[in-house]
Amino acid sequence: MADDLDDVTDESSESSEALIAVHWREEGYYPPPASFVAQANASDPAIREQFTEDKYPDCFTAYADLLTWYKKWDTVLDTSNAPFWKWWVGGELNASYNCVDRHLETHPNKAALIFVPEPEGDAHQAITYRELYVRVNEFAAVLRELGLKAGDRITFHMPMVPELPVAMLAAARLGIIHSQVFAGFSGTAAGHRIADSGSTVLVTIDGYYRSGDLLDHKVKADEAVEAAAKEGQQVDKVLVFRRYPGQYSAKTPMVEGRDVFVDDLLAAHKGEIVEPVALKATDPLFLMYTSGTTGRPKGCQHSIGGYLSYVAGTSKYYQDIHPDDTYWCMADIGWITGHSYIVYGPLALGTTSVIYEGTPNYPDAGRPWRIARQLGVNIFHTSPTAIRMLRKVGPDEPAKYDFHFKHMTTVGEPIEPEVWRWYYDNVGKDEAVIVDTWWQTETGGFLGSTLPAIDSAKPGSCGPAALGIYPVILDEDSNEVPAGSGKAGNICIRNPWPGVFQTIWGQPDRFVSTYYAKYNKDPKSTDWRDWPYFAGDGATQAADGYFRILGRVDDVINVAGHRLGTKELESAALTVNEVAEAAAVPVVDDVRGRMVEMYIALKPGFDASPEIEAKVKAAIETDIGKIARPKNIWIVPDMPKTRSGKIMRRVIAATSNFTDTGDITTLANPEVVEKIREQVQTAK
Ligand code: PRX
Repeated sequence: MADDLDDVTDESSESSEALIAVHWREEGYYPPPASFVAQANASDPAIREQFTEDKYPDCFTAYADLLTWYKKWDTVLDTSNAPFWKWWVGGELNASYNCVDRHLETHPNKAALIFVPEPEGDAHQAITYRELYVRVNEFAAVLRELGLKAGDRITFHMPMVPELPVAMLAAARLGIIHSQVFAGFSGTAAGHRIADSGSTVLVTIDGYYRSGDLLDHKVKADEAVEAAAKEGQQVDKVLVFRRYPGQYSAKTPMVEGRDVFVDDLLAAHKGEIVEPVALKATDPLFLMYTSGTTGRPKGCQHSIGGYLSYVAGTSKYYQDIHPDDTYWCMADIGWITGHSYIVYGPLALGTTSVIYEGTPNYPDAGRPWRIARQLGVNIFHTSPTAIRMLRKVGPDEPAKYDFHFKHMTTVGEPIEPEVWRWYYDNVGKDEAVIVDTWWQTETGGFLGSTLPAIDSAKPGSCGPAALGIYPVILDEDSNEVPAGSGKAGNICIRNPWPGVFQTIWGQPDRFVSTYYAKYNKDPKSTDWRDWPYFAGDGATQAADGYFRILGRVDDVINVAGHRLGTKELESAALTVNEVAEAAAVPVVDDVRGRMVEMYIALKPGFDASPEIEAKVKAAIETDIGKIARPKNIWIVPDMPKTRSGKIMRRVIAATSNFTDTGDITTLANPEVVEKIREQVQTAK
């Protein structure tokens, strides 16, 4: 429990991103073009009145009504076991049916997914709703044959290929709880998540393309199974999709009795139909692991009814998805953005969702725009990191291609106003709206964003709260920080919403202590008003009600929109024998927003060397993955510490970021600060 409480202690704010946030000046407004307003799903400002607090929680039935239910709910929101909220209690539905089967009546031959492989010479593959139906059913038959059933967990360690949504929807058809691990994570990281979720089946692929390389992915499955076994979890079956039959998988080593190629299994299930199971709205749909303050990742558990209704509703009103749009979210399905806004939201609304295997700037910065032109993409969704990268390497590229977006999204990290304007002018070509969407793995869908046909966008701010979301900024003493005060505080959501996660898998105490304990005054209360959701972000609210998110206030670093826990990074570094102490801090980076810098102090008798640095880097790549690679590793003579021996990350972060270290006179070893500053700042 002490470990769990770490998530919200003062200590955790010491290296926080919010402390190094750049405070931009207030920008002007960008109203939506008339052409956008004319076709938008929500263009009447009166929609807000349907979501005011007096209509809560029933207002969200507008979202639930977008779905097809086997049985309607009896209770909209049950708060009796606060803060484990239950939405649509008594209702029954199936997510796979909602994303696939029901579209067969209206548009069976329309593309549900368009897969764009990274090699530019390879043809893209359009998968119609009917084909998706066939593939989902056949894979569901495979899972059923393995004995998997509702409530069991299955782990996917899959890259951006259409087999991933097929597998997700097949699991959802049977009520099997899926846990997709980002393909860029190491085998060891996947193994921890397999063990935590108690999965007995792992689904993977032989290889995939990334930045021009055909990567061997199966090797990670072997590492994952081994890592899971060390934690006492046995994996009985590893299902291997074949991305490149003949070219690659012939070389893939398979473990007899455990590993099977999926196409061999599918052969016995051609054309088989698996009826979707009617599941409770409150049953779990999937787990999505994310980093927290402690080393152990958190399996955020999302419900079928609440989650699906929320992503369908926000896809309709905020993404402005219509069935005849071609929608491309250039995120990865291994993260929550991909779950909500590549797979579940767009498919629930019956649109065409593009899946791109590769990186945005491979082979050059024109690739995304060629894809957009070729497929006629009209809604585009990406991260500030991708926008910064494309702007840096190919600022004039978008003008060379004839593509037209009506709507663009940014997600995952704060976007600098000048980057926003480049996106608006050069990619949007003055024809598109931009929504800056603030939310989290835990929240299922958007919390803060403009309603694109109603609100003007303001660069650098995500906008007002989403429909039916009532945020508040609180200081450490639970006082409200007023809008327009220019002061920052902890942004919290005062009310539950359908997309909010249900719990942390297997760690209910950590769920309460991390997200709800900080501002709860009565742990017995069943009134939702007593349980503000603590998001872990610093924010300010301008007088117009728009929120600006400053970054994490806890020990989480958001690198290129991906969350990394400082404890995870530090424990990886500590596996290196020579390392005595390690501290990970965020540093501002002009492409990735934030990156990690590692400070290392060595055990007595060891001297700094490039070999030790290389070992630390390798340890991080093995334990977490290449995405966690630090920007710099500084081997320093000692760490600045308080008299009680606590490492002062705030001071270290200030050194990395050339900001003021604040008062250091009370440290046990203030003299070391100057030494570190000289070492690091001279080298930069
Ligand atoms: O710090 C916030 C930042 O990303 C965190 C959530 O990360 P994750 O769970 O990986 O989900 C990312 C995709 C939703 C938040 O706590 N964040 C997310 N969106 C924004 C943002 N920061 C500023 N502006 C955003 N639009």
